[in-house]
Amino acid sequence: MKRIGIMTTGGDCSGLNTVIQRIYRGATLRGWQLIGIQDGTDGLCTTPPTTIKFTEDTLPIENARLAGSFLHNGRATALNFETAVEYNQLEQFNKKLKESIKALKLAALVLVGGNGSLSLAWCNKDIYDKVQLVCIPKTIDMDIPLTERTIGFDTAVQQLTSFCDQLMMTARSHHRWFVVQTMGRDCGQLALNAGIAIGARAILIPEIKFDVNSLINHIKFLPEDHGIILVSEGISLRGHSGRPADMISRKLTAAGIVNRTAFPEHTQRAGDTVASDRILATRMADCALNAIANNETYVMTTINNCECKTVSLGDFFAAGEISADPNIPDVKTSDAYVSPDDPLLEIATNMGIYIGETK
Ligand code: F6P
Repeated sequence: MKRIGIMTTGGDCSGLNTVIQRIYRGATLRGWQLIGIQDGTDGLCTTPPTTIKFTEDTLPIENARLAGSFLHNGRATALNFETAVEYNQLEQFNKKLKESIKALKLAALVLVGGNGSLSLAWCNKDIYDKVQLVCIPKTIDMDIPLTERTIGFDTAVQQLTSFCDQLMMTARSHHRWFVVQTMGRDCGQLALNAGIAIGARAILIPEIKFDVNSLINHIKFLPEDHGIILVSEGISLRGHSGRPADMISRKLTAAGIVNRTAFPEHTQRAGDTVASDRILATRMADCALNAIANNETYVMTTINNCECKTVSLGDFFAAGEISADPNIPDVKTSDAYVSPDDPLLEIATNMGIYIGETK
């Protein structure tokens, strides 16, 4: 019986369990056995590798909607690619991962990961030379090139939207603004999309240069005295350090704008998986299983113009370094990031949202 493995690596997000359940279901129907590798590469690094076998009972379909990963995503204390490099142990680390894959007798490995995990898989590709490596992109940051969507993003937008919806009651009652700091690393997709959803009055993202005085004037001359200002965690303000929301909040306070900060933090990665993420997870799981059946390797599933297909991991990696960020000059971006001609930017402006100095 063909044995295939699955592991989830990097930060968790909602939708991972849907992928696991769909891969399990599809693999079983094809007569393949699915081996779940626990804790990502940490699980592969232990002797013997820590694995679980799924059954319909241990992987109930009604649990597939839950956030987090039944396989866990890795331990903070374990040896990983970064620490292995730091301690000069990369060769040993890679060797161990390779041996574990061999010991598990895997024909294929499904790696569900984000930008970092997928890049590391490509940069250390020798580990996977005896197994078919098929990757599925997941991340709330939506910063993965060559795919229009990533698993977990829609749920994160929903979580952030719900969080801000709740704050609006207090904002109105106290005539105050909330500066909400979103996740997203150096990519503004999460803030931009959630900001449009909630009708934020300002959205600051790393890809678009902003001017604090323009922001202050924009807020001051609005007819209302309360609302949400969304600030992506990746923005920077020359001469300032600390959390971006705090920096913006201080500037607003100094200008006489009553405000508070709010940090939804990891709740953005939580929440029951929304339907669109479950559909995406199912499509990508099916695409990954087809790729395995077609003997593909070193590929990643993508979705573009509603079509789900694989691209090579090499192409993914090459697409990851295109232009520089205007606020943080050394940041590498790609087609996944918010581009200056993203239609949402103009729509935001047309809807009275300050989005930065777009013109
Ligand atoms: O990449 C996903 C992400 O949630 C980012 O948006 C955020 O900056 C980071 O991970 C937080 O990582 P951690 O869970 O290690 O604090």
